[in-house]
Amino acid sequence: MSNTYKAINLVARPTGPITNDLFEVVQKEIPTAGEGQFLVKQSHMSLDPAMIGWMSPDTESYIPPVELGSVMRSSGIGEVVESNHSDFKVGDRVTGMMGWQEYFLTDGEGINKVDAPLPAETILSVFALPGLTATQGLFNVGKPKAGETIIVTGAAGSVGSLVGQLAKAEGLNVIGVAGSDEKVDWLVNELGFDAAINYKSDNLEQQLAEAAPNGIDLFFENTGGPIQNLIFERMNAHGRIIVCGMIADYVSAEPSPGPNWIPIIKKRLSIQGFTMPDHFDKVPELLGKLTPYVMQGKIKHRSHILKGLESSVAGLNMFLTGENKGKLIVEL
Ligand SMILES: NC(=O)c1ccc[n+]([C@@H]2O[C@H](COP(=O)([O-])OP(=O)(O)OC[C@H]3O[C@@H](n4cnc5c(N)ncnc54)[C@H](OP(=O)(O)O)[C@@H]3O)[C@@H](O)[C@H]2O)c1
Repeated sequence: MSNTYKAINLVARPTGPITNDLFEVVQKEIPTAGEGQFLVKQSHMSLDPAMIGWMSPDTESYIPPVELGSVMRSSGIGEVVESNHSDFKVGDRVTGMMGWQEYFLTDGEGINKVDAPLPAETILSVFALPGLTATQGLFNVGKPKAGETIIVTGAAGSVGSLVGQLAKAEGLNVIGVAGSDEKVDWLVNELGFDAAINYKSDNLEQQLAEAAPNGIDLFFENTGGPIQNLIFERMNAHGRIIVCGMIADYVSAEPSPGPNWIPIIKKRLSIQGFTMPDHFDKVPELLGKLTPYVMQGKIKHRSHILKGLESSVAGLNMFLTGENKGKLIVEL
C-alpha cells in the first residue's frame, strides 16, 4: 500500500467559472493518529454550491473563506482506519467537514458517527445538508399549511427536490422551477409535483398564471434569476419567501437588483434568509422530522456520482451550468 495520499488545495480565488488553475493537487504522507486522534479514509465527498461562496474573499459571510494554500473545504463520509480516540473505533463510519482529500486526521471535533446502514449516496443526498436544509427552510421558516401553494426554484436540485416532495406530503399544491425539459418531466412524472416550469422557456408569466391560478403562498428561493420578479408579483397576502440560495448571482459581476419593496407592505410579506450552520444544534430534531417521510417512501432522490478527487473541480462548474442531475457526490 502506498503511504501517500492526494489532497487539493485552493490557491486562487474565482472571478468567474471554476477553473483548474484555482487549485493545486498535492501528494502528502499518510499521517498516524496521535493520542486522542483518529484517521479517516474518506470514501465520498459532497459537492455543494455554497463551496463557490467559501472560495470568495468575502469575510462578511456566515462562514470564513477557505484560506489560500489550504485544503478546499467540503463535507464527506468515510471510515475510521486507525484510532487512539475513546469514542471512535476502527470501522466506524463518520461524516464531517473533511475537505478535498483522501485521508483526514482529527480529534473528533465536528465529526459524527453514522449508525444507519444506508449507502453513502443516500446519507449525503438526503440525511446530510440537502435534507436538513429542506426541512429547516420549509417547516421552521416557511411554516406551510395544507392547501397552500408553494413554488420552489432549483426544484430538480438536491435541496429543491426534497422541499417539493415534503410540501406535497404535507398537502400543498407544489410548483417546481428548473432549467431543462428533462428536469421538468422528472419533477412532475417521477416526484409528483403538481406543475413544473422550465425557466429557460418563453411566456413565463403565462405559465406561472396557469400553474398558480390562485397565487403563491410560499416561495422557496434557491436560485434568483429573472423568474424571481415574476414569482414575486404573484405572491398572495401574508405570503412567505424563504431565501435559501441565489446561485444565479454566485459568480456574476453585477448581482441582480431584485424586486421593488412596496408589495412587501401591501401584501404583508415575510422574507427570511437562513443558513444551516446556525441550526446545526437542531440536527436531531430536523432528522426526527425528515426521517418518517423517507420511511413512508414519500421521498425520492437522485445522486450524480463523479469519480476521483480531481473531478471535484469540474463538478463545481456543473452547479453553474445545471449539468448536475441530483446531488453531486465525488466517489474517491
Ligand atoms: N441556506 C443554506 O443553508 C443552504 C444549504 C444548502 C444549499 N443552499 C443553496 O440552495 C441552492 C440549491 O443547492 P443544491 O445543493 O440543492 O444545488 P442543486 O440545486 O442541486 O444545483 C444547483 C442548480 O442550480 C441551478 N442553476 C444554476 N444556475 C442557475 C441560474 N442562473 N438560474 C437558475 N438556476 C440556476 C441548476 O439547475 P437548473 O438546471 O434547474 O438550472 C443547478 O443544477 C443553492 O443556491 C445553494 O447555495 C443553501
